[in-house]
Amino acid sequence: MLRLVSISSLLLVTQVLASPHTRASSQPLPLLIWHGLGDNYAADGLHSVGDLANETNPGTYVYYIRCHDDPGTDSRATFLGNLTEQIAQVCIDIQEHEVLSQAPGFNALGFSQGGQFLRGLIERCGDRINVRNLVTFGSQHNGIAKYQICKDGDWLCKGYVGLLKSNTWGHWVQGNLVPAQYFKSTNDTTGAPTEEYLENSNFLADINNERALKNVTYAKNLAQLDNFVMYLFEDDTTVIPKESGWFAYTNGTDGTVTPLKDRDIYKEDWIGLKKLDQKGGLHFETTEGGHMQLDDEVLIDVFSKYFSTKNGSWKGIDEREQQIIEL
Ligand SMILES: *[C@@H]1O[C@H](CO)[C@@H](O)[C@H](O)[C@H]1NC(C)=O
Ligand SMILES: *[C@@H]1O[C@H](CO)[C@@H](O)[C@H](O)[C@H]1NC(C)=O
Ligand SMILES: *[C@@H]1O[C@H](CO)[C@@H](O)[C@H](O)[C@H]1NC(C)=O
Ligand SMILES: *[C@@H]1O[C@H](CO)[C@@H](O)[C@H](O)[C@H]1NC(C)=O
Ligand SMILES: *[C@@H]1O[C@H](CO)[C@@H](O)[C@H](O)[C@H]1NC(C)=O
Ligand SMILES: *[C@@H]1O[C@H](CO)[C@@H](O)[C@H](O)[C@H]1NC(C)=O
Repeated sequence: MLRLVSISSLLLVTQVLASPHTRASSQPLPLLIWHGLGDNYAADGLHSVGDLANETNPGTYVYYIRCHDDPGTDSRATFLGNLTEQIAQVCIDIQEHEVLSQAPGFNALGFSQGGQFLRGLIERCGDRINVRNLVTFGSQHNGIAKYQICKDGDWLCKGYVGLLKSNTWGHWVQGNLVPAQYFKSTNDTTGAPTEEYLENSNFLADINNERALKNVTYAKNLAQLDNFVMYLFEDDTTVIPKESGWFAYTNGTDGTVTPLKDRDIYKEDWIGLKKLDQKGGLHFETTEGGHMQLDDEVLIDVFSKYFSTKNGSWKGIDEREQQIIEL
């Protein structure tokens, strides 16, 4: 009896999937959203952003990137884990996803650390998943120079930061504590990254191609974007230095900012940003407020400018398929 039921439902699935649809190629590309530190993929605030994307560009399928299906564990993974493994897993998850695997391309939205992780995903996995437009808000593309993570009175968090600070360049910390993997130390006299950063950084020094041996695939993949838009929060006091959101270097001694375009990473085009800029695809934007104070108007503007059907479309999935996928 049970067997019969499962066979007939299987038949139904096959029939529905095989039935011809007369759908125009008119849905916006699916949107990948990678949340920030401490957040989780199922959070209401994050979903309200996804809903806004779907309202702005109706029919947008939104995928909230996760490292675990359990939201609590997903949130934990924003603090604990090896970014090499997390990004490799996300690369596989997207390729194996029922809906996403059918899409010809994606748009991507990264919040805070999720922004540089999406960039890492594009650099490493860009031959397998085709991202067209990447928008990041308050991300740490040039790393952080200080750990400013805890709310006042959060002793557990203070213990965590103590561990980060005491042994940032240790192998265990680099393999297990997430913010250490985008911590950057620079010799402010010379402006050069320190040896210990270059030797030990598990994530940032690699995806920024700062080591002597450059991975040309990273540059090729990033330059293939249509647009890379970096938003900086004007009054960001959480990200130190906030100019990291624009890929700039800030001298920790006197606060002088060297913009991306005056830096070797751009001038020598280590990761494809210059090439992207030359075709008009690199954008520096600011928004009012402190770290992650998102304004709906700004989001709507971004969504209509970069994530509409004008920026790529596909046939989408219809509601029947959607229901089956959710079964
Ligand atoms: C997007 O909005 C439409 C209504 O315009 C709704 O039917 C659909 O369920 C929404 N999709 C998602 C993924 O929220
Ligand atoms: C460069 O990056 C690609 C994509 O992650 C990887 O497959 C390749 O092995 C890397 N090459 C080197 C020399 O590390
Ligand atoms: C991070 O994970 C990768 C892949 O498993 C591994 O090769 C690397 O050694 C790990 N890094 C650290 C610092 O543990
Ligand atoms: C920074 O570089 C200068 C010049 O090479 C060197 O003298 C100094 O010791 C370095 N400072 C640190 C903190 O490494
Ligand atoms: C950083 O600022 C200090 C103090 O003004 C200055 O001596 C040093 O040369 C600056 N470093 C760079 C790389 O410009
Ligand atoms: C995407 O949107 C941007 C900004 O509106 C526009 O300049 C660009 O041409 C669009 N890209 C594509 C592939 O349509």
